[in-house]
Amino acid sequence: MSNENQTIHEFDLNIIYDYFGKTERQGPGSPEVTLKALSFIDGLTAESKIADIGCGTGGQTMVLAQNTASEIIGVDLFPEFIQQFNQNTQKLNLQDKVKGVTGDMKNLPFKEGELDLIWSEGAIYNIGFERGLSKWRKFLKTGGYIAVTENTWFTQERPTEIEDFWQEAYPEIDTISSKVTQMEKAGYLPVATFVVPESCWTDYYEVQHPQMQESLLEKYKGNKSAEDFIAYQRYEAELYHKYKEYYGYVFYIGKRIK
Ligand SMILES: C[S@@+](CC[C@H](N)C(=O)[O-])C[C@H]1O[C@@H](n2cnc3c(N)ncnc32)[C@H](O)[C@@H]1O
Repeated sequence: MSNENQTIHEFDLNIIYDYFGKTERQGPGSPEVTLKALSFIDGLTAESKIADIGCGTGGQTMVLAQNTASEIIGVDLFPEFIQQFNQNTQKLNLQDKVKGVTGDMKNLPFKEGELDLIWSEGAIYNIGFERGLSKWRKFLKTGGYIAVTENTWFTQERPTEIEDFWQEAYPEIDTISSKVTQMEKAGYLPVATFVVPESCWTDYYEVQHPQMQESLLEKYKGNKSAEDFIAYQRYEAELYHKYKEYYGYVFYIGKRIK
């Protein structure tokens, strides 16, 4: 679901759920990457509160829950993802400390200064990196952290085909140094950045294997939205394989220091 330009409302939501609801993750990431990002965060206790924004069905949330004592609230716009998220918490016996709620990242259901950590993997693009960082800051306590992944250029210059694709899909895509400056301007101390390994992207595209795409096309035969959706997923994956040295997700970890 890294189609950053089209909001999920532009596609039939049933198609999205049929496609992504059964996969463990809805974007590039892995338990190892989640744990690496978590290693930069100090001071979490059983009294701390974490929000995972754009949590999807909760792949990364469950990793956080199994490696911290804190309370975690997952927020996603998509009720079917939250339903699946809450079933997953029960399967893993995490329901006492992890809860999924349907909500919009543009209007989060938290009080000012309530959170110790804001997490968001593969989702902040829905509000925009700069806007998300500055709008969400007030929900953090002083000393609280934010950890997000964001699609980022690895080089100053890129071939036109990939430049044009991402400028159209997500005009906010930029270099690591620009994103770090945006983080500082939004009022955070940049604590760490690291590149999410290529294997997270190849695994992500791999789970959307041709058989899964064909069965969706069969189910929604003649449905233009479904055909366009699959065509887009295939094109995005093809471009990734061709141009992966030029871009990818980067984890940005920042601290609210005042
Ligand atoms: C690429 S998926 C990432 C899901 C999950 N964090 C992961 O890494 O597997 C982006 C998620 O953002 C959610 N989303 C999109 N717009 C949203 C909004 N306005 N508020 C909350 N969640 C939103 C989608 O439903 C989807 O679950």
